[in-house]
Amino acid sequence: MAEITWLGHACWSVKTGPHTLLIDPFLSDSPSAPRKADDVAADYLLVSHGHFDHVGDVATIASRTGGTLISNFEICQWFAKQHGLKHTLGMNLGGEATLPFGRVKLTLALHSSTLPDGSGGGNPCGFLLRLAEGKTIYFACDTGLFGDMSLIGKAKLDLAVVPIGDVFTMGPDDALEAVKLLQPKRVVPSHFNTWPPIAQDAQAWADRVRRETSAEAIVLKPGESVTI
Ligand code: NI
Ligand code: MN
Repeated sequence: MAEITWLGHACWSVKTGPHTLLIDPFLSDSPSAPRKADDVAADYLLVSHGHFDHVGDVATIASRTGGTLISNFEICQWFAKQHGLKHTLGMNLGGEATLPFGRVKLTLALHSSTLPDGSGGGNPCGFLLRLAEGKTIYFACDTGLFGDMSLIGKAKLDLAVVPIGDVFTMGPDDALEAVKLLQPKRVVPSHFNTWPPIAQDAQAWADRVRRETSAEAIVLKPGESVTI
């Protein structure tokens, strides 16, 4: 069993057994965050790319919790050097690592990854999580649509988290195509309604998913959870 909570924008918490994973921590400066950076647990911080709306609270949360940063090699090095983070696991696209909570694989993402100070943040990624408790979750993170999502779907996804905000990532039309390629059991939308440029009608999108695919589309409000 795993409990997945939307913390607004592209920030997610995954509770699995005794472990809490935090994806793309961005709370302090997020207009839609239901919690403050001081109020979240994180044994592991998974960071998909270097943009401010994904790394905003990494340093403060990792320093407070002692959690391990899992990201690409460049981002791990930057946080170790700039913020003194001691626990990091630098990876790269296609690589998978086995950890106490399960396996994590860095998947392709079509995006960019410059860090807040202009440093190169390596390649952006998504995350495929094969939890030790048996569930498989795919976080597409910030990405455009790509055909190899059908390969990611071969992992038999219990849950897919896809962006629908448009402008910076997939919009609703391409996110619907993504669901068709991924064929997940359940899908939840992310990266929308934080600011006006990425405002979307998530319920209308979910209705299209229900009509055109066999996935169960679940629209959460910030602070709400889905249990799988
Ligand atoms: Ni981004
Ligand atoms: Mn973003």
